[in-house]
Amino acid sequence: MYVKEKLEINTDKLYYGFPVVLLGYKDDRFKYNATTISSSYSLKDTLTIGVKSESHSAANIKKYGEFTLNVPSDKLLGEVEVCGFFSGHNKLQQADLTYEIAKTIDAPVIDDCFLTLECKVVHCYDHHGYTHFVADITNRLVDNDLIDEEGNFRIGEIDTIHFTGCNELRQYRFLKEEKATKGDFIYTSDNCCG
Ligand SMILES: Cc1cc2nc3c(=O)[nH]c(=O)nc-3n(C[C@H](O)[C@H](O)[C@H](O)COP(=O)(O)O)c2cc1C
Repeated sequence: MYVKEKLEINTDKLYYGFPVVLLGYKDDRFKYNATTISSSYSLKDTLTIGVKSESHSAANIKKYGEFTLNVPSDKLLGEVEVCGFFSGHNKLQQADLTYEIAKTIDAPVIDDCFLTLECKVVHCYDHHGYTHFVADITNRLVDNDLIDEEGNFRIGEIDTIHFTGCNELRQYRFLKEEKATKGDFIYTSDNCCG
């Protein structure tokens, strides 16, 4: 018997709060393109993403082996939805997103996103209809106003969109500055965050 009663829930997907990002990639058809995902994680200099194998973006990222991961704030929610629902379209144009070409790879850096990671694929595999790309981060770009006088990232000021939901519900949540708290509850000499 659990101290607090738990029930099993019947759903084939359960997203408990993943940052929404826009992938930028080189595209056969439109030269450059973008798509929305919430399946990514960053571990030191490595980034892993999950993209539906039959998607236009997966085919092109497999072909060119490069992409950017661009992090939008809640101001770009409309653009996030355009890039998340029109498979195969010219979405940078459709969402009216301007961009420049990255320094270390041939892929778009989306101007209105506050953070961009430039990534080169080192490994990919298909699993249950999704392609998982493991990539090396070759460059990181952050908006000027998010860097303090000492050159540090003002991490407490970022306002990411988080995707939550299951089969029944799709919901966006927002990381607000006033709710941020420093992770210093446990003191240790180890840097446990990788
Ligand atoms: C908030 C949000 C999160 C999404 N996350 C993912 C994801 O993690 N992986 C994925 O394959 N598709 C995800 N999608 C769906 C794709 O963006 C969608 O299938 C898109 O149309 C694919 O476009 P493409 O075929 O042009 O690449 C997400 C969509 C939204 C709106």
